[in-house]
Amino acid sequence: MENSKRTVTCGELNKSDVGKTVVLNGWVHRNRLLGGLSFVLLRDRYGLTQVVVGDKASDEVKKIAASLKSEYCVAIKGVVAARSEKDVNHDMATGEIEVEAEEIEIFTTSDVLPFQIDEVRQKDGTISLPNEDIRLKYRYLDLRREPMQKNIILRSNVTFATREYLTSLGFLEIETPTFIKSTPEGARDYLVPSRVHPGKFYSLPQSPQLYKQLLMVSGFDKYFQIARCYRDEDARGDRQPEFTQIDMEMSFTNREEVLSTTEGLMRHIFKKTLGYDLPAQFDRISWDDAFDLYGSDKPDLRFGMKMQDAAFMADLSDFNAFKAGAANADKSIERHKRSGLKALVVKNVADKYSRKAVEALETVAKINHAKGLAWMKVNAEGKFEGGISKFFAGKEDEICKKLGAEKNDLLLFVSDEKWQTACVALGAVRKQLGKDLNLYDPADEFHFAWIIDFPYFAWNEDENHWETEHHMFTLPQKKYWDTLESDPGAVKGDLYDLVLNGYELASGSMRINDPALQQRIFKIVGYSDERAKKAFGFLVQAFKFGAPPHGGIAPGLDRLVMLMRHEESIHEVIAFPKNNLAASPMDECPSEVDEQQLKDLHIVCTEKESE
Ligand code: AMO
Repeated sequence: MENSKRTVTCGELNKSDVGKTVVLNGWVHRNRLLGGLSFVLLRDRYGLTQVVVGDKASDEVKKIAASLKSEYCVAIKGVVAARSEKDVNHDMATGEIEVEAEEIEIFTTSDVLPFQIDEVRQKDGTISLPNEDIRLKYRYLDLRREPMQKNIILRSNVTFATREYLTSLGFLEIETPTFIKSTPEGARDYLVPSRVHPGKFYSLPQSPQLYKQLLMVSGFDKYFQIARCYRDEDARGDRQPEFTQIDMEMSFTNREEVLSTTEGLMRHIFKKTLGYDLPAQFDRISWDDAFDLYGSDKPDLRFGMKMQDAAFMADLSDFNAFKAGAANADKSIERHKRSGLKALVVKNVADKYSRKAVEALETVAKINHAKGLAWMKVNAEGKFEGGISKFFAGKEDEICKKLGAEKNDLLLFVSDEKWQTACVALGAVRKQLGKDLNLYDPADEFHFAWIIDFPYFAWNEDENHWETEHHMFTLPQKKYWDTLESDPGAVKGDLYDLVLNGYELASGSMRINDPALQQRIFKIVGYSDERAKKAFGFLVQAFKFGAPPHGGIAPGLDRLVMLMRHEESIHEVIAFPKNNLAASPMDECPSEVDEQQLKDLHIVCTEKESE
């Protein structure tokens, strides 16, 4: 072909182009031979266009067309023709037309594919895919699939919308180093050995936390960065060893401003990229209520079904398991004045739930540390039936009235001496029911909420000391400043999480800017002056030079795009992710290196995987 460069993409031709001569470049998505005609479906990232190689084509072109196999990369020159009314394909943006081929050039051929790019739908509507390691080994091919193209394109659009919004508010995008001093920050660090400084290591940042705070000291009062973070922690569907945050920090600010800026950012991103309208303000739920009502600090609010306190039931029978839960034995319950006997009323499913189905729910409760899951049904006569019903016979009216239960409802209970254990276990059952019964409100596709008023400290039972729930630079709420040392368990932090559809999307806080207050926190969590100085001395030093009040937040970009696309794993929205063993089957990373490289780095390996 004299000039094989494309003049149009595969996603743009329509009726108004009929008669034009065009050149398309792309991959052969499918090639059907029908009665001497070839129908080549050509694909690029913009869409699909049907090319017909028919009577008007030369024998030479017909021969090339017949040889085209899936994923050959080709150029096709031809004339745009209208499809007859009955042939219009309404599922394709270019479905009104087809291109009648005049010339075909094969740029490159393709080996037989390890899996099909053109998705094969099973009878139940699911798409059959090879296992993840095969997909990751051939990720460049996996990325050719339409859903993956959509994910990556959305991710790019989200990043652009982020920059657009934050820059319009006067935020500056500032890069911070990725070779930093190793500081304790929750997970394990990834380390990079120094060649120039034998025995010393850089660490890859778990987040730009300290640097963004230093930028506040420098006067850059509105900072953001699309920041790569590295954490050596156990893999899960919503975690990667390297991931990306939309990292933000502001000076001369308060919690309200950080929350409303984040709400504005999310509204802009959703509107701009999905055309979806989010509410002007997101719900706010205290950490205590989040656990009490939903059993989680990242509740899925696309459905209601709140848990209820059932302490009153302990006095209605001799059922011993309920006594412990209602007895407020847990220290934390005294504080919260909440019992460890929690109930869930599942509406109108009693006839659908067999004993076996309830047992499956009990397994969920037990995995989440409940001793068991008590249950009974309200039958068609309004009487209790099954499970623990015999203990509460005759008490139907009182119990149903208090819990709001009606005929054909299933009642589930977890009782534990610890309020939080009971909440978490029954909360996990609630989450499972949401999925099993598809309780999600279709009109509430993206339910955001803020979780606020977190406890500042958590007691580490294994090591017997207090540690901070978030990081150590978080500001305790002012009303607790006088009682930090005397009652650490009661202190609430000026910190907040943004949750979306049952996932923690972002975390942030107001920060400490007073070196004396910072020292007090170090002391309570058992950091000696020396250890604190070694780990964070440079930050404490910087705060001696007029540190402004500041605060910030960091939404996870991977999780955000995953949820926007209703994917279940962040692997699906990262071009080249690691597998669950933090490895990349494609380039076989991590890999061994030459002895000389190790020598240069002053490293001797004592153990090797292969040995
Ligand atoms: P945090 O550690 O809570 O806070 O992280 C903030 C957000 O980052 C995302 N995230 C992850 N995403 C994928 N894989 C991981 N391994 C992973 N870990 C975290 C989540 C999470 O909500 N510096 C503080 C923020 C601040 O205080 O401003 C921080 O990093 O979406």
